[in-house]
Amino acid sequence: MAELQEVQITEEKPLLPGQTPEVAKEAELAARILLDQGQTHSVETPYGPITFTVYGTPKPKRPAILTYHDVGLNYKSCFQPLFQFADMQEIIQNFVRVHVDAPGMEEGAPVFPLGYQYPSLDQLADMIPCILQYLNFFTIIGVGVGAGAYVLSRYALTHPDTVEGLVLINIDPNAKGWMDWAAHKLTGLTSSIPEMILGHLFSQEELSGNSELIQKYRNIITHAPNLENIELYWNSYNNRRDLNFERGSDITLKCPVMLVVGDQAPHEDAVVECNSKLDPTQTSFLKMADSGGQPQLTQPGKLTEAFKYFLQGMGYMASSCMTRLSRSRTASLTSAASLDGNRSRSRTLSQSSESGPLPSGPPGHTMEVSC
Ligand code: BEZ
Repeated sequence: MAELQEVQITEEKPLLPGQTPEVAKEAELAARILLDQGQTHSVETPYGPITFTVYGTPKPKRPAILTYHDVGLNYKSCFQPLFQFADMQEIIQNFVRVHVDAPGMEEGAPVFPLGYQYPSLDQLADMIPCILQYLNFFTIIGVGVGAGAYVLSRYALTHPDTVEGLVLINIDPNAKGWMDWAAHKLTGLTSSIPEMILGHLFSQEELSGNSELIQKYRNIITHAPNLENIELYWNSYNNRRDLNFERGSDITLKCPVMLVVGDQAPHEDAVVECNSKLDPTQTSFLKMADSGGQPQLTQPGKLTEAFKYFLQGMGYMASSCMTRLSRSRTASLTSAASLDGNRSRSRTLSQSSESGPLPSGPPGHTMEVSC
């Protein structure tokens, strides 16, 4: 029998009269975003059902990108500006994305009955294998913010073989000490739950500046029909256990990690301390200027570029996949990486600024980059 041959078929897309390639590309991108509405699923777990939305199609030999949002948000309000950012499209088209909504945070979620025992953050992490089993996915690159970053870290500690990389924004791996509790209780006397959650998400400077973004998120949280559920997730976050990261010990993240925090963000000190406890050969630290508390909302461009370098370091983004701008910046900065899983563990991460390329550290070393 004649052997089948793999044939490369290149799709011809004729330009419309008067259409430039740039306009055609933008129209194609807009159409793709419009068409890909995501598929929402719900699976049963030992701690109740969990809802998640899948975008894109599984790519052989590639991990899924799995996101976990912070308190007061859901996957859309936390990640849509980043994942729908124009430059992000060339990255995510190479991956299937699984966006998890913490229980009771999905759009239209009914309010839990009084006395409902909301899962702890550790139990939320224990729900993730049910999602991956349902989808038949084996490995992930996790992207988490705040409470979501904690959940993904806990999952990575218990299932290290299934996590290829982690992007952790605003992670606080420590349990609250008694001083934190005292401060929390005092704040609770004068502030409402939405205001406390806003103080967790954004810097004081941002909150008093009351920009359009702050007004939007204050409105979303204050008028959330599932505010009681949000309070339960908030309580679980405040009752989290210490992750007990210890450099050189068994309790550490084994995969490449990109830690991200905005300078002046409420969790800056916690992320700095977390960086000091992780394996420096596996960890990159990105401190972003002018980004406030939620860099994925305020600086999607910078974060996209850093994410690209992170993936490239893991061998998932060939430089031919990168924008002209990134390519010229990276040419002298990054190690070679191939697109098809020929991955090396030495990584280089750099971050651009308006004024040109920023220094990149030697592969596999922790760097602090301000941009
Ligand atoms: C995505 O393409 O992964 C995505 C789209 C809309 C919201 C969040 C993520």
